[in-house]
Amino acid sequence: MNEDEMVVTPWEVRGKIDYDRLIKEFGTERITPDLKQRMYKITKEKHVMLERDYFFSHRDLNWILDEYDKKNKFVLYTGRGPSGHTHIGHLPTWIFTKWMQDRFDTRLYFQMTNDEKFVFESHLNLEDVRKFTYENTLDLLALGFEPENTFIIQDIEHIDLMYEIAVQVAKKVTFSSAKAVFGFDNSMNIGGIWFPAMQAVPAFIHSWVYGKKTPCVIPCAIDQDPYWRVTRDVAERIGYYKPASIQNQFIPGLKEGGKMSASDPMSTIFTTDTIKLAKKKVMNAFTGGRATVEEQRRLGANPDICSVFKYYEFMFMPDDKDLADIGRKCRGGEILCGECKQILAPMMTEFLEKHQATREEVKDRVDEFSAARLRDELKR
Ligand code: TRP
Repeated sequence: MNEDEMVVTPWEVRGKIDYDRLIKEFGTERITPDLKQRMYKITKEKHVMLERDYFFSHRDLNWILDEYDKKNKFVLYTGRGPSGHTHIGHLPTWIFTKWMQDRFDTRLYFQMTNDEKFVFESHLNLEDVRKFTYENTLDLLALGFEPENTFIIQDIEHIDLMYEIAVQVAKKVTFSSAKAVFGFDNSMNIGGIWFPAMQAVPAFIHSWVYGKKTPCVIPCAIDQDPYWRVTRDVAERIGYYKPASIQNQFIPGLKEGGKMSASDPMSTIFTTDTIKLAKKKVMNAFTGGRATVEEQRRLGANPDICSVFKYYEFMFMPDDKDLADIGRKCRGGEILCGECKQILAPMMTEFLEKHQATREEVKDRVDEFSAARLRDELKR
């Protein structure tokens, strides 16, 4: 198989990612300058992840804003599969979600799919996925979410809040369509075949709890789109709106190609890594550099394929002038990759130090965010 061949599924992202092709193949829409302006009219400020097209694709966002204008406000939904510690590449989606939550003043449902990781990952037992649900929750809370507007759903613990919706979804999805969308074959355990119904639930849970059809926007990486195709397909047939989505690119791993992935620990900075280890990973990162110093001085390097540069672009250099500056120096051979990593390393470690401190502070607040609170809402 061609090493460069692009593969994007909820379970695997590999090869050279062609985002235009993904939009075409998945049938989503590009986020246009007009759509950004429409959002900014409400948010009153720009966001660098939109400006730089980290969030580049969507479904039905114009409709969401139409409804918003008509005072039919949406809820947000995103999630995490707790298969291990959170890595840095997970955070931008959550950071952007928080910005949307603040700016549109709206509720967030955050799904921890401990069931998904238990059934799909043979090496994980229930204790593991529970532990990582807790650990990942700390990373989420460390970003500054507040309980009033944030409801964390843990699939296994909160199944009573999900089951009625899940069976409605499941009844409308045939095995052959699940096979076609997700590529399941006969070796898949039936937990995996059922799971797409569970990932659909949070898109409808607000409507279900409050008995009022409510629009929903899902910020997520584009590899989750197969789930939303299924969810959207059944939505209206079971009495809900189709969920909209706003989709981001992948943050590349510190090694060449694909996305940052937990399966290669050196390509991935975990939020729980020691400062020393994080620094070492940055210093070993894949870049767009040349084979020799002489060549790099003469021909310049390529920031477009560089993992270090992506971190500047999407996380650490919000100032356009700073970014343009380092891009120019890189292309012009003025700065070498080692020097460039020396700039990223302290940014990364400073971020991590702060994040780890906040993570400690939120440790006893986890229960305040639990979607178990919805049980009281249902009794009303
Ligand atoms: N399936 C996702 C994962 O493996 C977790 C998830 C559940 C999710 N619901 C979501 C991600 C909604 C984004 C948006 O990580």
